Amino acid sequence: MVLRGFGMEQKWSLRPATEEDLENVSRIEAKVHPAPWGIQHFRSELTKPYSQFLLMTDDATDQEVAGYIVGWFLFDECQILNVAVSLPFRGLGFAKAMIRKLVTLAVNKNLRKVSLEVRKSNLPAIQLYQSMGFVIVQIRKSFYSNGEDAYFMTLSLEPSDPIRF
Ligand SMILES: CC(C)(COP(=O)(O)OP(=O)(O)OC[C@H]1O[C@@H](n2cnc3c(N)ncnc32)[C@H](O)[C@@H]1OP(=O)(O)O)[C@@H](O)C(=O)NCCC(=O)NCCS
Repeated sequence: MVLRGFGMEQKWSLRPATEEDLENVSRIEAKVHPAPWGIQHFRSELTKPYSQFLLMTDDATDQEVAGYIVGWFLFDECQILNVAVSLPFRGLGFAKAMIRKLVTLAVNKNLRKVSLEVRKSNLPAIQLYQSMGFVIVQIRKSFYSNGEDAYFMTLSLEPSDPIRF
């Protein structure tokens, strides 16, 4: 992805997370999620063979983290467990680019759907997923530790349901 502003151009790319990224990721996580994952939680994702933990970093230094995504590729589906974009980089298409990447990986593995849970109150995220073709298929009552309900949303990857993004 290329961002332009103030006469400058900055390029950003997705790559797998490593141990060295965990401090940066945890710092962002603590600012953006009501019930943030701890550093150990992220660390455990690095060792799971079915987990994809990807970061959006700047090509110039490879150190600045704009966002990250964690997805599990299990059986016939990809489950998105975490996606977040750091506040200064919101609204620039980073989340969409990260989800598109996981969906592409899932299509290449011939999986049948992508699924996720999202807080009922999280309108930006719900809007994001709906803009990519995800649909609400279930309400999961009191899913979160504060008692909030979740929407369970899925994106079908069946050949009869063409992807529209
Ligand atoms: C949800 C989140 C990941 C979106 O990241 P982002 O990079 O700003 O999103 P994008 O720029 O890729 O936006 C893509 C689409 O999402 C929707 N969207 C994103 N932010 C929105 C907002 N604040 N209000 C309404 N819609 C929004 C829009 O449809 C947007 O498309 P558009 O720009 O063409 O209108 C980000 O707000 C975030 O990190 N939130 C905190 C963590 C979180 O809630 N994660 C999801 C948990 S399930």
